[in-house]
Amino acid sequence: KTAFHNLSVSVTIRKASLFAVSNVSITRSLATKSKHKVLTVLYEGGEAGKRNKNILGCVENALGLREWIKENNLENQLELIVTSDKEGDKSVVEQHLPTASVVISQPFWPCYLDEKRIQKAKNLKLAITAGVGSDHVNLEAACKAGITVAEVSGSNVVSVAEHIVMQILALVRNYIPAYKQVINGEWDIAAIVDRAYDLENKHVGTVAAGRIGFRVLQRLKPFDVHLHYYDKFRLPEKVEKELNVTYHPSVESMVKVCDVVTINCPLHPETEHLFDEKMLKLMKKGSYLVNTARGKIMKADALVDAIKSNHLAGYAGDVWYPQPAAKNHPWRSMPNHALTPHYSGTTLDAQKRYAAGARELLGNWLNGKPQREEYLIVDKGEVVSRAYTSGDATKGNSDTKA
Ligand code: NAI
Repeated sequence: KTAFHNLSVSVTIRKASLFAVSNVSITRSLATKSKHKVLTVLYEGGEAGKRNKNILGCVENALGLREWIKENNLENQLELIVTSDKEGDKSVVEQHLPTASVVISQPFWPCYLDEKRIQKAKNLKLAITAGVGSDHVNLEAACKAGITVAEVSGSNVVSVAEHIVMQILALVRNYIPAYKQVINGEWDIAAIVDRAYDLENKHVGTVAAGRIGFRVLQRLKPFDVHLHYYDKFRLPEKVEKELNVTYHPSVESMVKVCDVVTINCPLHPETEHLFDEKMLKLMKKGSYLVNTARGKIMKADALVDAIKSNHLAGYAGDVWYPQPAAKNHPWRSMPNHALTPHYSGTTLDAQKRYAAGARELLGNWLNGKPQREEYLIVDKGEVVSRAYTSGDATKGNSDTKA
């Protein structure tokens, strides 16, 4: 399959899936006498979560699972635990892991299922990512333990692509310092334009042209930029021509010619610390980097050095390691960044889609129905997702390296 083929198929199926989810009927064919424990790890919603029922990804609204269980009369089959308490030996997660059949987590507030936790989770059958990106699960350990790992592929890819375009423009046009001047009662045009450019005519490249990377290319085309990409799978020639995008045989060859690089590959052993000192040095002096893929794709200190030395003109994105990011994380205070907390893929529109997808995955599992192929990351002891397979994701996504 080509990357593009995979992409178009997933888009069509996704539309169908949203419809199917609302009509899901639970036949209870697989009903067991004892309840299945579903451990759901989400962020606290606080005031906003209480007020806004559309913030489905928070503890208060629990992906709509409470209502869904009620509507489908599943109270006798499922025991739902919802918590934000995920770190440390005494956490609610640690307490319930040994007896949980299903863990639902999100990349925005990830429940790291490392090797130790997977060994502890003797009853675990299914790890659902309410969103996209299952690197918080040690896939090698999941394969060994026979745990199915599934995510809601495609659910938030437009949300992320839009965020990337926004952050590229914010960096290149020097938006954040200009905004700060307004807040601070200042009016110093020269200080802003000192670092402000047009995006037009610049060279912009994406590491990976999967669902998100491809959509970034599509959205940037009307800006009259020179587009570049590297992916393990090449787009069809026709698509390359339509986008007028240049393919590179390696990340190295691409970053050398780009004014802006955006990272859109999954985190697996091949991409962990891909952007280290060496790769950052290869980037053009004065170029920008936007990473909404995963924090660990960057070598954290190497990035700080590249920014502080002005080799890179700016960095943006929304992904950190670990999450939530520590108050004193060095990226927070480095100059020339436009970083946000991890929220690009969790707009209210995206939440509706991935919450529906998570419920669909749970319902299918309970009913013994097959899952959608494109949602599966690990199945029957094997990594089956193309995005992870060729990176040899089974060679341990390291649990400890920052
Ligand atoms: P996708 O599966 O559609 O595309 C991934 C692409 O990466 C594929 O084309 C694959 O061939 C390519 N790839 C895999 N290994 C590679 C390597 N070593 N070098 C270059 N290319 C490689 O995934 P999608 O939906 O585009 O998402 C990509 C990643 O973005 C996710 O895995 C996740 O980590 C991140 N993401 C972040 C979100 C956020 O809120 N910040 C939300 C959704 C995804």
